[in-house]
Amino acid sequence: MGGLVLAILITGSVVFLIWWLIFETEGVYLGRRLVIWLYDVYARRYDNIKQFEPTYEQYLLARPLLSRVAPHRAPLVLDAATGTGRMALALLDNPVFMGRIVAVDLSHKMLEQAASKLKGYQRVDLLWCSVDELPFDDGAFDVVTCLEAIEFTPSPEKTLREFVRVLRPGGTLLITNRLSKWMPGRLWDNEELATLLRDYGMGQVDIELWQADYNKVWAKKDGHSPIVGPRYLEEILQCPSCKQALMKKEAGGWQCPNCSGVAPIDQHGIINLHHLKLK
Ligand SMILES: C[S@@+](CC[C@H](N)C(=O)[O-])C[C@H]1O[C@@H](n2cnc3c(N)ncnc32)[C@H](O)[C@@H]1O
Repeated sequence: MGGLVLAILITGSVVFLIWWLIFETEGVYLGRRLVIWLYDVYARRYDNIKQFEPTYEQYLLARPLLSRVAPHRAPLVLDAATGTGRMALALLDNPVFMGRIVAVDLSHKMLEQAASKLKGYQRVDLLWCSVDELPFDDGAFDVVTCLEAIEFTPSPEKTLREFVRVLRPGGTLLITNRLSKWMPGRLWDNEELATLLRDYGMGQVDIELWQADYNKVWAKKDGHSPIVGPRYLEEILQCPSCKQALMKKEAGGWQCPNCSGVAPIDQHGIINLHHLKLK
């Protein structure tokens, strides 16, 4: 009898652990590959699960962001871990927005969904690459956004530092801070996050309640610099391999003039920096 109870307890604990590691925390403690694989698997169902409502996306995302960067209407925006392109779509659908967006994600299937939703929109580039190490110079963007994703990256603190690095002095950061789950070592409380952001040189930090699961966190990078504006990718995309030159657009892909690395463009228009080919 005692043996049976023990067996039930052990089986229950193992089932719980597997559920927690794979479903509850979306694979984050088992490595980046699993996280991305799970997003690849869910990509086609993601928007249905989330039920994004365009009007709310305008009220909750695009308009507040545009009012933070006003009077500028044409910022260069990096949407890190863009997923199915939610932020890019909200901005491009807003008539006030005259800027450009670089949208980055490591799940190709999520990017494919983004590509089909953003088909026909100009002023957006989709990049298949990780947000852990971004292929852009310091201060390359006016705005960096990252919604519901930073906790899934291998080191959220390192990712946050990377966002601050690519933001120009005076630029605006919008991230979300997950509240509800038990994810040891990956979530911050409001105080911790505000302190961390200030340590990284983000002076003005505002944290707003947003959803049951997430807070919306705004921060402004210390200092001032002229607006970057709607630059094209060729003006900002560094070679992720040699990091010595800006990539140049050639027939069929982007090429590094220094190391000859080639990032092909696929049939969805997604630039593949994840599997850079070396000539
Ligand atoms: C919950 S989704 C959020 C997507 C989108 N920002 C939104 O709000 O709908 C998390 C996204 O983070 C991406 N992601 C997770 N880790 C990443 C990493 N290290 N580099 C790039 N993207 C990553 C996943 O592929 C997924 O698309």
